[in-house]
Amino acid sequence: MKRILLGFTALSLLFSCQQNNNTVTTDNTTTEKPASATDVHTYANPSMAKVTHLNWSAIVDFDQKKIMATAEWDIETSDSANEIVFDIFDLKIFEVRVDGVKAKFNVGDFDEHKGKPVAIPITAGSKKVSIAYETGKNARALQWLDAEQTAGKNAPFLFTQSQAILARSWVPCQDSPGIRFTYNATVTVPKNMIALMSAENPQVKNETGVYEFSMPQPIPSYLLAMSVGDVHFKAISDRAGVYAETSLLDTSVYEFADLEDMIKAAEGLYGPYAWGRYDIIVLPPSFPFGGMENPRLTFATPTILAGDRSLVSLVAHELAHSWSGNLVTNATWDDFWLNEGFTVYFEHRIMEEVYGHDYAEMLASLTRDGLVEDAARMLVEVPNDTKLKLELQGRNPDDGVTSIPYDKGYFFLRLIEETVGRDAFDVFLKNYFETNKFKVMTTEDFIVYIKENLLSEEQYTTIKANDWIYKPGIPDNLPEVHSNKFALVNTELSNFTSNGTQPNVELTGNWSTHEWLHFINSLPEGTSTEQLMQLDGWYGFTQSGNNEIVAAWFQPTIKAGYQAVYPRVEAFLVSVGRRKFLTPTYEALLNADKATMANDIYAKARPNYHAVSRETMDKLLGHE
Ligand code: BES
Ligand code: ZN
Repeated sequence: MKRILLGFTALSLLFSCQQNNNTVTTDNTTTEKPASATDVHTYANPSMAKVTHLNWSAIVDFDQKKIMATAEWDIETSDSANEIVFDIFDLKIFEVRVDGVKAKFNVGDFDEHKGKPVAIPITAGSKKVSIAYETGKNARALQWLDAEQTAGKNAPFLFTQSQAILARSWVPCQDSPGIRFTYNATVTVPKNMIALMSAENPQVKNETGVYEFSMPQPIPSYLLAMSVGDVHFKAISDRAGVYAETSLLDTSVYEFADLEDMIKAAEGLYGPYAWGRYDIIVLPPSFPFGGMENPRLTFATPTILAGDRSLVSLVAHELAHSWSGNLVTNATWDDFWLNEGFTVYFEHRIMEEVYGHDYAEMLASLTRDGLVEDAARMLVEVPNDTKLKLELQGRNPDDGVTSIPYDKGYFFLRLIEETVGRDAFDVFLKNYFETNKFKVMTTEDFIVYIKENLLSEEQYTTIKANDWIYKPGIPDNLPEVHSNKFALVNTELSNFTSNGTQPNVELTGNWSTHEWLHFINSLPEGTSTEQLMQLDGWYGFTQSGNNEIVAAWFQPTIKAGYQAVYPRVEAFLVSVGRRKFLTPTYEALLNADKATMANDIYAKARPNYHAVSRETMDKLLGHE
């Protein structure tokens, strides 16, 4: 089962051959020169002028589906500064003021990924730039949901998704992960709703519909986030809790009951949690991701509410980003593995602390299987995208969101752990977060850092570090994972596939979601519809309430043409907008010559998808 979206098409191939001037060597002996972190996905020129603080006031208008706002930025300038440049995407700018005085501004040409630059003349002494604007119809970060698309069906809902470069579609900003700022906000929303942000948050609705926010720690723009809806709060511990629509609130509190243990485990590993509170908001099912690590307020899909806490590694993942990503941030989207690879590693460590080694090794094994499968396919289709250090110039950074930065990144770090021993690696990581907190990291800086603080040249060479980072494919020293629990599953599976024997009920009665996922993912090519029907009769996979299990089950069943699954496929695709599930399911339909079915379902489902998912599915299904 793929961990995440693979959103590329043949078209991406055309763009994937750009020269990357940071890649100075690909052999294992030469040292790299630290590269300057030029972010090719922003128009901003931070060496001349950059933002330090945002004061945002906004009105959220559900009738017109737009946000009207003023973004007042504190700026820092170089001695020679004569302009400051912001990124925008489909924003209508009404007025710009520099230190209170109305100023001219120049909007440049549109680029399909980057949007437009807004250049504002300033002097070295300028302190504040304020921009009055409203969002457009193509605000890619925003999803405006009608009441019917929510669980309660009585109020509309709005949420943002800023990563990677979508913040510029709701706030004019210097939209680069290397530029950090603190913020305050005043947000006006309809009276039956509450606004929440990646900031200090209210816990109850007020009478006025006006909410104040403050984020005292500096964040990059991709962590700007807001959600507006009819949600309520319940505490899990003193510093952690959950926001959800009423009908999901108790379920969510139950599902995330181990949250405080996870935070303590994370702090025990890599140092104090830096952000004050840690809350989670459970969003409507059209949220395009599993989770998003917005500081102080993780955004989560409701598809992890399995009722048995079996899918909470996602929470461990988003929590881990509070260190890897939110404290130490990838300098550019080419360095995305520094965010996600570290986070998957940290996620697995938290899971091991809280649920034990056997449990964590099941997760690692699923991760490894997914990586090996995805990497093999990508090596043929988009070989350059299988390097840890990505080459995303001229492309949508979303093209880099594949298993590579996540899982190849994870296994590279696991290899380093196995090389130096866990104790030494933990000391290294703790210092890495402490030393580099609130800073950015390039891949090249990381290489220098790890050579200075952990690996000898010889170790660096022996583990083939440069191959891992700069070469396509997976080197031949991919760490092995030994899951005792999966070994038992394998025995039952081979009895079933060779003799049709029903797996031992005493064993299967205790299987977790992960054992079932391994079982389903390991069904051999050519498993027949009769065999699938038999399994469905025993285990009811088609009607499973566990979204990971159903999505995994769609693979062999769609491939085999097992008709009983089709209504469930349709119902699932129409209600869920999480891209990690959509991509493999639509792909399976296409590969099984079910293009008509895929397109009929998509016609019904598309209005419910967030722009991020829609863009990927449009490409996949040829709706350019
Ligand atoms: N930060 C990512 C989501 C993301 C990445 C959004 C790139 C936009 C661009 C988040 O932390 C994430 O990785 N989510 C995963 C969770 C999983 C790996 C546990 C997801 O959504 O599936
Ligand atoms: Zn992540």
